[in-house]
Amino acid sequence: MDDFPGLHVSSHPAVLHKLALLRDETTKPPQFRALVREISWLLGYEALLDARIASRPVTTPLEVMEGARLADRIGLVPILRAGLGMVDAMLELMPTAQVWHLGLFRDERTLRPVEYYNKLPDSATVDLCLILDPMLATGGSASAAIEVLKNWGATRIKLINLIAAPEGVRTVQRAHPDVPIHVAALDRQLNEKGYIMPGLGDAGDRQFGTGRSD
Ligand code: PRP
Ligand code: URA
Repeated sequence: MDDFPGLHVSSHPAVLHKLALLRDETTKPPQFRALVREISWLLGYEALLDARIASRPVTTPLEVMEGARLADRIGLVPILRAGLGMVDAMLELMPTAQVWHLGLFRDERTLRPVEYYNKLPDSATVDLCLILDPMLATGGSASAAIEVLKNWGATRIKLINLIAAPEGVRTVQRAHPDVPIHVAALDRQLNEKGYIMPGLGDAGDRQFGTGRSD
């Protein structure tokens, strides 16, 4: 993206196909959760492109060769609650990753993030932190999460979202130009309530079935 140098928007056909199903208002929570998981896996795969590897000798049935292993110690930081749905897919990709939960919710009136849970240890124990949250709207929650991680001692951080609004990307990149952002889509804008348009609605409610019943 020319306007946003550190923003990576996936152009993979499988991502685009699944994203349209995810956005569809008739998609029910079980399929929605499956799609969040599948798209997360694909975004995680792309975000790991520059992860460090180390050599690892492997004995195949025919001979010994130099294989590779993931050398970066990776920390997954799901933002509760909607980020929870992205964790399993990432752990499939990176089984040795550690998971540090961070609870932030957006105050509906001020749209400012409120921290209510933090399970990070005293100091950073990983080389690369991947923040997981389906939605990057105003950017308040993501910026707060990045600040928490930087104060904790994290030096390499990536943000992985399913859908971002330009407003949120701008806010995060102004405050944290060193943090690459990986998304499945960059949408048009926020509405007056801070929802991403066209978006998918409330990612937490749609995953966990807690939305309006009408
Ligand atoms: C959603 C989403 C992000 C945040 C994005 O969470 O999962 O964390 O909003 O908005 P922002 O970029 O304007 O900060 P929400 O506050 O709805 O909490 P929930 O996951 O518990 O539903
Ligand atoms: N959080 C969501 O779940 N959806 C939005 O569109 C914005 C914030």
